[in-house]
Amino acid sequence: MDQYIIRGGNPLVGEVDISGAKNAALGILAAAIMTDDTVLVENLPDVRDTNVLLAAIEEIGAKVERITRHAVLINGSKISDICVENEYIRQIRASYYLIGALLGKYKRAEVPLPGGCNIGSRPIDLHLKGFRAMGAKVELRHGSIFAEAEHLHGAHIFLDTVSVGATINIMMAACMAEGNTSIENCAREPHVVDVANFLNSMGANIKGAGTDVIRIRGVERLHATEYSIIPDQIEAGTFMFAAAATRGDVMVRNVIPKHLEATSSKLMEIGCEVEEFDSAVRVVAARRLSGTNVKTLPYPGYPTDMQPQIGVALSLAQGTSIVTESIFENRLKYLDELARMGGIAKVEGNTAIITGVEKLTGARVQALDLRAGAALVIAGLAAEGITTIDDIKFIQRGYETFDEKLRSLGAEIEIVSSEKQAQKFILKTG
Ligand code: EPZ
Repeated sequence: MDQYIIRGGNPLVGEVDISGAKNAALGILAAAIMTDDTVLVENLPDVRDTNVLLAAIEEIGAKVERITRHAVLINGSKISDICVENEYIRQIRASYYLIGALLGKYKRAEVPLPGGCNIGSRPIDLHLKGFRAMGAKVELRHGSIFAEAEHLHGAHIFLDTVSVGATINIMMAACMAEGNTSIENCAREPHVVDVANFLNSMGANIKGAGTDVIRIRGVERLHATEYSIIPDQIEAGTFMFAAAATRGDVMVRNVIPKHLEATSSKLMEIGCEVEEFDSAVRVVAARRLSGTNVKTLPYPGYPTDMQPQIGVALSLAQGTSIVTESIFENRLKYLDELARMGGIAKVEGNTAIITGVEKLTGARVQALDLRAGAALVIAGLAAEGITTIDDIKFIQRGYETFDEKLRSLGAEIEIVSSEKQAQKFILKTG
């Protein structure tokens, strides 16, 4: 089993390029099958989740041609099967986007219930409520969602909770429904806007993405497009916090600084300098960080996907901090792993009271999910001595060449798959 092994203590210094946004890519790849023409998707991150989704759409008959590591041609004209069954598809959350895409295009879909990171109960009732409002009959049978509509029509849909997945899924189906749909209290995340822009570039008629009401006028067909995915603001934020926790100086390139405002502002609050450029941000942490309070919220609030990373930085900050996770109920468990490294936190419900320590010390810890895993990498980079992280498959779901990018900033980190390789790393870096 692969592990990351890290010798901590080096401040991260240098420049790093951010890949395309995983969560935008997942919506876009599913939406790409909604036309019979060929679609070119560029700036695609080469991560496990996007590769699993590509394998799934290939399996139902779409032609998928990877022309470079970061560009793919997709043609959905030969889709023969509206039943998605793929050995991996249950593992990824975004498999649910195939319900919206197939229902919109073929008015029928059969997709296994989604898996994904274990960060809470993660229901999809809002997605299904939206499809039903549009005239679809939706049933759960033998672990799969069956959706079918004789007449898929526009509807007025109010989301009780702000949901990224429900917003994107309903928006996709509504693009090819008859008439007008409005989605109220929808998510405003940059990836929602990116999927809407992609669909519009295929001829859809979506207005208001990025606000809390999206209006869609259904069209009969979508057409070819060439589209480049936005940069990943969570990958960017992870490197920004890695710079902060190691007291480094990192220029994070190929980003949209506007998407990083919540992260940048917290970093400044805890004592970092953050300089914005047109498509880059530089984070300098010249002194020990100071504690603060943070609560996760839907965009433009502080992202839940950046909560473990700030939690690690605050564990090293001066003073006490309060972290409140208001989106998912199971996203503070990384603090138990961090405790093995000397972190001090008291968790009550969805709140963690973190007492900053002067230093963390390396230990063997486990990546519990994607962002929890990335946060433990940050902890390992900042800690004294050797940290090993198990279950890095979770981290590889969403970070492209994470270890390589970190090494380019001066980190001592490698992937090892045996005790012998781990010993070799320890000797080499000791
Ligand atoms: C997306 O998950 C992201 N995943 C998550 O990224 C991210 O953490 C999350 O949005 C919040 O930003 C993808 O884009 C593939 P939600 P999603 O629907 O769509 C409740 C990462 O690390 N809810 O916005 O599944 C839900 O329980 C990941 O990259 C319902 O009650 O999240 C949660 O409390 C992990 N009913 C809240 O809404 C529903 O039908 C927000 O969830 C749907 C959601």
